[in-house]
Amino acid sequence: MENRIYLDHAATSWPKPPELSASFAAACVNLTANSGRSGYRESVESARVIFDAREALCAILGVADSENIIFTRGCTEGLNLILRGLLKPGDRVGVSPLEHNSVMRPLRRLVQERNIIAETLPAGLDGQLDFGLCRKIVQERRFNLICVAHASNVNGVIQDLTALRAVFAEVPLLVDAAQTAGVLPLNIEQEEIDFLCCSAHKGLLGPTGVGIAYLSPLYELAPLYDGGTGSHSESYEQPLFRPDRYESGTMNIHGIAAFQGVLSGFAERGLLGEKTLRLTQTLIEELSKLQGVRVFSPKNAPALCVSFNINGLRPEETALRLEQDHGILCRPGLHCSPAAHHHLGTLPDGTVRLAPGWGTTDEQIETALRAVSTIAKEAKH
Ligand SMILES: Cc1ncc(COP(=O)(O)O)c(C=O)c1O
Repeated sequence: MENRIYLDHAATSWPKPPELSASFAAACVNLTANSGRSGYRESVESARVIFDAREALCAILGVADSENIIFTRGCTEGLNLILRGLLKPGDRVGVSPLEHNSVMRPLRRLVQERNIIAETLPAGLDGQLDFGLCRKIVQERRFNLICVAHASNVNGVIQDLTALRAVFAEVPLLVDAAQTAGVLPLNIEQEEIDFLCCSAHKGLLGPTGVGIAYLSPLYELAPLYDGGTGSHSESYEQPLFRPDRYESGTMNIHGIAAFQGVLSGFAERGLLGEKTLRLTQTLIEELSKLQGVRVFSPKNAPALCVSFNINGLRPEETALRLEQDHGILCRPGLHCSPAAHHHLGTLPDGTVRLAPGWGTTDEQIETALRAVSTIAKEAKH
C-alpha cells in the first residue's frame, strides 16, 4: 500500500506483524493432520498448536483455565454463541446505546423468537454510560444480562468496566471487546467479566476468520452448533465438557497457528492503546478546531477512533476525496452500528471515521488533518 495512509484499524488491523505470514506459511506445510482426531504425532502436533494459542490468550486476557476460551470464526460468532446460548424466553438484556449490529441483530432475533426484552441503558450524548442513572434503574428492573461494547467502533467511546461491574454487581456481564482486545488492558477474571468476545484480526493483529469467546465456568450455555469434536465419538450427544462442547467441526488449524505466531510476539509489542489513544486525541482536538467540521467523539475522555462530518458533504463524499486526493483510507457511513448513529443523531448518512492503530505515525496523522482541512475549506458550508 505505497502512498496510502491506512486509518481504518477499527475495521481490521494492517499491516500485520511478519510472524503472521511466517507462521501461516509454516502451518500450511507442517500442520498436516486434523487436531484431536487421532493419536499419531502429526494430529497431536496440530492439537498442541491450538492448545498453545489458548494458553497464550489466557495469559494476555487474565484467564486461569484455557478450557474456558472457545475458538470461534470471529467476534460475531462468539456474540451469537453467548446471546443465543444463554438467554431464555422473557429475559431482559441491558445494552449500551453504541452497540454493533453483531449484538443488535442477534438480540432482535431473540426478541422475535424468545420474547426477550432488550433495553438501552442511560448514557450521555456521546454514548458513555451514565452510572448514576444506571444505579437507579438497577433497583427497579431485574436484568438477566448486561452487554456492552468495551469501546465503540463508531466514535471510540470507552466504557468503564469497573464501574459497570460495580453498578450491575449481580448481573452476568458480556463484554464485546472487538475494539479493545490487544489495545486496552483486560483482566477478565479479576474484573469479574462473565463473557467476552473478540476477533483475532483487529488489535491482536492476527488473521481474519479466527476469534474467541470466553465463557465463565459459572454458566452453562447451549452450544451454537452440534457436531464432530473428535471426542466421545460413540455418543450422539454433544460432549458436556469444554472446549469441545462449543467447538464442533474441524478447527481453523492454520488460522489459529498463524494467530499463535502473532501472539508469541505480543509481550514484546505490548498493548496498542497508549499510542492509539494519543493519536486519536490529536485528531479529536485538531479536527474540533476546523471550521465546518463537526466531531462526534468525546473531547474530555479517551477514545480509540474519531467520527466527524464536514458540513455540506456526505460522509462518503468526504471519504472519496480523502482517498482520491490524499491516499487516506477510512470508513464512512454507519459502520454496522445504526444504534450508535441513532444515539449520536447522525442518521441516515452516518459519519467519517478515522481509526489509527499499529504502525500509524504522527506524520500520517498530520497529513490526514491537513487533508480534512483542505476538503473542509473547499466545501460549501
Ligand atoms: C464493536 C464491534 N463488535 C463486533 C464486531 C464484529 O467483529 P467481526 O466482524 O470481526 O466478527 C465489530 C467489528 O467491527 C465491532 O467493531
